[in-house]
Amino acid sequence: MAAAAPVVEATGITKRFGSTVALHEAGITIEPGQTHALVGRNGAGKSTLVSILTGLQAADEGAVTFAGEPAPRLADRDAWRQRVACVYQKSTIIPELTVAENLFLNRHDHGRTGLIRWKTVRAKARDLLDTWSVDVDVRTPAKELDVEQRQFVEIARALSFGARFIILDEPTAQLDASAINRLFNRIRDLQRQGVTFLFISHHLQEVYEICDTVTVFRDARHVLTAPVDDLPRADLVAAMTGEAASETAGERHGPSADAPDVLTVDSASLPGAYDDVSFRIRAGEIVGLAGAASSGRIEIAETVVGLRAAFGGVVEIAGHRPRPGSVPAALAAGVGFVPQDRHHQGFVPEMSIADNGTLTIPDRLGPAGFIDGRRRDRFARTMIGKLAIKTPGPELPVSGLSGGNQQKVVMARALANDPRLLVLINPTAGVDVRSKEFLLGKVEEVAESGTGVLIASDELDDLRMCDRVLVVFQGRVVAEIPRGWHDHQLVAAMEGVDLDG
Ligand SMILES: Nc1ncnc2c1ncn2[C@@H]1O[C@H](COP(=O)(O)OP(=O)(O)OP(=O)(O)O)[C@@H](O)[C@H]1O
Ligand SMILES: [Mg+2]
Repeated sequence: MAAAAPVVEATGITKRFGSTVALHEAGITIEPGQTHALVGRNGAGKSTLVSILTGLQAADEGAVTFAGEPAPRLADRDAWRQRVACVYQKSTIIPELTVAENLFLNRHDHGRTGLIRWKTVRAKARDLLDTWSVDVDVRTPAKELDVEQRQFVEIARALSFGARFIILDEPTAQLDASAINRLFNRIRDLQRQGVTFLFISHHLQEVYEICDTVTVFRDARHVLTAPVDDLPRADLVAAMTGEAASETAGERHGPSADAPDVLTVDSASLPGAYDDVSFRIRAGEIVGLAGAASSGRIEIAETVVGLRAAFGGVVEIAGHRPRPGSVPAALAAGVGFVPQDRHHQGFVPEMSIADNGTLTIPDRLGPAGFIDGRRRDRFARTMIGKLAIKTPGPELPVSGLSGGNQQKVVMARALANDPRLLVLINPTAGVDVRSKEFLLGKVEEVAESGTGVLIASDELDDLRMCDRVLVVFQGRVVAEIPRGWHDHQLVAAMEGVDLDG
């Protein structure tokens, strides 16, 4: 019996954006039933390949086939939808519409009167979600879905078009541990039903957990494809970075004994989010705020930076009490921060990297209110170099950067204004392994120079360097864990399990 043709095969793909070569004679072959990982550093060309495999962009050179047949014309959207679907990090769902409307957008049943039959649409949507065991009310407006529900709805939508090949571009970046588990169970289920996956992630342990085969891209090129079991992690990282794995930085000193407080939170409460939270951070101290996505850790951090106002209680930053709920007041008191959602709170996509990177420091770049373009560009160039931001130059709009590189711009900006207190929410989401090490090293450096740091994250790698980690569970700080914990200890605490009890 002849082997089945690959579900998809891309060969000799080259794609340029102006002077940037995003893909250079790259390719991938995905066999039926596989869960195939695509990994590489930020800007390696992964999302560009996805846009070509889904027919959103044409390659400059190269060919794509599905099951041995040439890919459809770009204009033939229906033909593409029957072959492949992608669940993007950024939603393609329309927030104002209900789940049912999103599922059957543009293919409503029109009755003889020409009117849409909403009852039929809802019933069909319900059937569809039942078929794939997605437990969501079809009348819910899509904007009320959380990331996990949204992804499941998008997967069901893809399957309903007949596609049996699904691309997941960083699906886990915004999910907490239990949601990731549910997603993986869903993937395994669908795999058994014959669905093939291309899975993109910067969390290499996920590649080992869920994928059979891994392809590595580096600097726009295909570097290797191998069975996951044959490739030790160190070799995988070496393939991604083109260099042997590095040892991580040395010992931290931590805050000195007489370091003053740079943050005091006293008896703060926010109904529905957290309750009676108190803690301090000293100059030079790094404190983690760990917990599941819904634990309240994000809301606590957002309160400190003025994105939310607590009901009662006190937030004091470096001796000031900024007006609650005011970001400008928090910034003026000495806060630098990286918000959770870089698309909505992080930067201005239409503005250049240079302008975005220096948004918070106009007064350091020239006389009040006047920004010296040359000094600004020099500062931006230093950050681009130090953070390995992959771009042709600082004048590029941030929207032209790859996902992880956008995150680095937001980090650069937070580090730029010499804050007294640095507040980071999921700071390394979407950032590749090597850049992650570098950014966290930078945070340690900033702390050594006397800045206090608050890191709200559920990524163990982000929390490892913290002097102590406060664990938030259901809105309350339930544990304080000093440096040197074991992974299972912290994970158990985050899930509300008391190992000592
Ligand atoms: N529309 C665009 N205009 C200009 N440059 C682009 C555009 N899209 C992508 N690029 C560039 O192409 C390169 C590859 O980007 P791509 O988004 O494919 O990277 P990636 O591997 O997905 O990275 P990440 O891990 O950060 O998501 C980057 O240098 C990026 O800046
Ligand atoms: Mg990408």
